[in-house]
Amino acid sequence: MMRKITATTLTVLALASGGAWAAGGEGHVEDVDFSFEGPFGVYDQIQLQRGLKVYTEVCSSCHGLKYVPIRTLSDEGGPALPEEQVRAYAQNFEVWDEELRDYRTATPNDHFPESANEQAPDLSLMAKARAGFHGPMGLGLNQLFKGMGGPEYIYSLLTGYTGEEKEVAGTVFYENTAFPGGWIAMAPPLYGEDVEFDDGHPNTLENEAEDVAAFLMWAAEPKMNARKRAGFVGVTFLIVLTVLLYLTNKQIWAPVKRAAARKSA
Ligand code: HEC
Repeated sequence: MMRKITATTLTVLALASGGAWAAGGEGHVEDVDFSFEGPFGVYDQIQLQRGLKVYTEVCSSCHGLKYVPIRTLSDEGGPALPEEQVRAYAQNFEVWDEELRDYRTATPNDHFPESANEQAPDLSLMAKARAGFHGPMGLGLNQLFKGMGGPEYIYSLLTGYTGEEKEVAGTVFYENTAFPGGWIAMAPPLYGEDVEFDDGHPNTLENEAEDVAAFLMWAAEPKMNARKRAGFVGVTFLIVLTVLLYLTNKQIWAPVKRAAARKSA
């Protein structure tokens, strides 16, 4: 039995480290302190609004967000834009209408469009898809202890261009220190000063990358604030219940304990 367990453990370890080796050219991911990390972290509404601006003015020319309904931009816990602003925002997009068999202007009830560039993947769930297993041997420990995941990867990708490029079979690849393999077909989308933020936030490359990464995390997990709040209420309730049960238990058994103490005295 023992030998079997040892063999299994060894196999698991070999597989785990093998995975990390196989991932060979894994890129470098920078840690970023996002407001939504940790058990009490929540999205920063103003940051999400800035990220939406970066997405709209830069990324949306290639990338879609087809799983995200436009109306959720006014949700509590998200960018929380006023509804009339969301209605105006929706008019930026044209969507295909099955009934009209034609394109029409989007309304808040439509989703964001699909990717306009077919090489560019949809970004709706990208922040979750690239959560990655960062840390020693690809065990994901950095995610557990430092909260490193998809948004950090997206930030590192956007800030990780070295400026080198090469052409392979007619396609230009750009060297990027975060992208697994080191060469990505996406030209650097951000250089800094690509958008003007309404709140006067400095529009450096790092700030823009951080804000759009936060926005994409919200797109992939829009209910995070509510989920954390529910978890907190649940845990508080369990702690109170535990204390009450402990005290009740003590009280119920108190006479028995007293009787036992008298008998042994
Ligand atoms: C000119 C078109 C274009 C623009 C603009 C653009 N991208 Fe991309 N993006 C691409 C293409 C093409 C790929 C696929 C690259 C590949 O797989 O080599 C890609 C891939 C990605 C990926 C996935 C990388 C991976 O791990 O597979 C992310 C994340 C991403 N882009 C984010 C963004 C963000 C955020 C913006 C806006 C700041 C943006 N992109 C702007 C074309 C674009």
